[in-house]
Amino acid sequence: MEICFNPADFLDRHLQKAALESGLFEKSFDPQIRLADPRHGDFQANGILPAARERSLNPRQTAIQLIEFLEKSGEIDKNMVDFSVAGPGFINFNLKTSYLKGWLAAHSTVDQLRRAAGDIFPKRSFVVDFSSPNTAKQMHVGHIRSTVIGEALCRLLEFCGASVLRDNHIGDWGTQFGILVWIIKKTGFDPNQPVADPLGELEDLYKKGVALTNEESSSLEEARQELVKLQNGDEENLALWKKVNSVSYGAFEEIYERLGIRFDTVLGESFYREKVGRIYRELAETGVAEESRGALVVFHPEHPRFRDQPFIIRKTDGASNYGTTDLATILHRVEHYKATDILYVVDSRQSDHFEQLFLTVRKWFLKKNLLVPRLEHISFGTILGESGKAIRTRDGEPVKLKDLLNEAVDRAYAIVSEKNPDLSESERRKVAKVVGLGAVKYADLMQNRTSDYLFSWSKMLSFEGNTAPYLLYAVARVHSIFRKAGLRPESGDGQANPSEFETEAEMALARKLVEFSSVLKQTLNDWRPHFLCTYLYELAGVFSAFYNSDKVIVEESGVRARRLILCARTLLFLETGLHLLSLETLERM
Ligand code: ARG
Repeated sequence: MEICFNPADFLDRHLQKAALESGLFEKSFDPQIRLADPRHGDFQANGILPAARERSLNPRQTAIQLIEFLEKSGEIDKNMVDFSVAGPGFINFNLKTSYLKGWLAAHSTVDQLRRAAGDIFPKRSFVVDFSSPNTAKQMHVGHIRSTVIGEALCRLLEFCGASVLRDNHIGDWGTQFGILVWIIKKTGFDPNQPVADPLGELEDLYKKGVALTNEESSSLEEARQELVKLQNGDEENLALWKKVNSVSYGAFEEIYERLGIRFDTVLGESFYREKVGRIYRELAETGVAEESRGALVVFHPEHPRFRDQPFIIRKTDGASNYGTTDLATILHRVEHYKATDILYVVDSRQSDHFEQLFLTVRKWFLKKNLLVPRLEHISFGTILGESGKAIRTRDGEPVKLKDLLNEAVDRAYAIVSEKNPDLSESERRKVAKVVGLGAVKYADLMQNRTSDYLFSWSKMLSFEGNTAPYLLYAVARVHSIFRKAGLRPESGDGQANPSEFETEAEMALARKLVEFSSVLKQTLNDWRPHFLCTYLYELAGVFSAFYNSDKVIVEESGVRARRLILCARTLLFLETGLHLLSLETLERM
């Protein structure tokens, strides 16, 4: 019998086939194969009930007939996967030891896993728009969410067969430049002077500019004039603008480097400035946009929330805005990158913007007879401080991401030094970096992305619970099992003749491992990395229970071999999973 990466897909296929070939159903149906409560089996088909009812058939009778047909056809070998009818018309499937053993043998390396997972999202071209900070400001703690969730989704998509283009849509063309250029000129600040923290200085200067222009309306007017000059291509202002951007890009790059993230394209909003003419023309020509009180707008009267709130694409003063550049960006991504799917990993406060943007694109592309790409806003909640409000420093400033990452590594260093004083200084530094940065990333990813969450150093750095230190420690522990036995993890399979799993702990672990494929699928279905986090945490727990009850390095070679395979696979899945989440792992800590 074929061993499929995702047994649920295999069962789905065969149930559908049986339903058609037996003549029970006239057309295909959704068997709704789900992971089952482990007390009842591994998988459960929930879809027979509704499908039978829809056809006025008795669900339980239908399920019985289906499994009779399956038994006769022999396509599912009952020695490998047992099945039976339960309740009013469910079918339970039980993976037997020979199946578990075969599955684990077939998925023993990262490459095998990648090849197997490659069917989940084949042949789609994704553009993932994430991180996307604004220039002239330092990245703050809020940017961690988009950056880390975006990167995890990219890695998962690539692993599952999609092609992915990481696009950092930097906000490099905002009204902030009026004030910034004005204050730079007024103070005679030299942005070319080498200083330790150039972006920090620019940001301070900008704040000063905001304070001054708030005080005096004449200053505000001067700043506005500088913005107009910049928009009209004044050379001096353009040069300043470029300089500010290059300083900002440099500072962002340092952060991405630390987080292990790179982008395939970084165009920035300014790149699309010259492309807005076509947007005005096409939207007006197709009748999607119309003039309204001097502005060019798109109405979505069919949508209750936007009935009185049109999507503005050209302001009354003739200027383009965030919406216009986003429309031009979509066109560019479709025409230039042949994107079939575009994901926006952006704060939930922008959901109205994206909803209106997507509605507009649908109308516009349909009018032009173009294939509408899939557009998704992957939104997320806010990181809260102890006060329960958005996290800020004591002075009420946003927490700078740079400072946060430094603090994470410092705190991890203190913990590692205390826990493991025998490690050399350089080793401790290395471990602290992996644990500290991993803790910040993981604390974000393990949350359901749409909820707000409370930022807590003690929680994220704890060695207990669903945290990075706990999982990294679990990884290091499995490494140490192999080290102590004088073996390499890959050698787990080189052992002669593993016997069949027998103990409850072995069976539970093998079953948990097989769930990996379903978890990947579920994670991408919902774009929620926390599903993978929860799985890894559970896997580490089931492994721990196994390791506490079943000795691995025993005399009997068949038993030792099968337990070493379980250890090797646990290590492979934990490491692969953590790497997909963009964490690094350690062999010892
Ligand atoms: N720069 C924007 C901000 O900080 C986010 C951009 C998101 N991407 C987009 N295509 N609109 O709010």
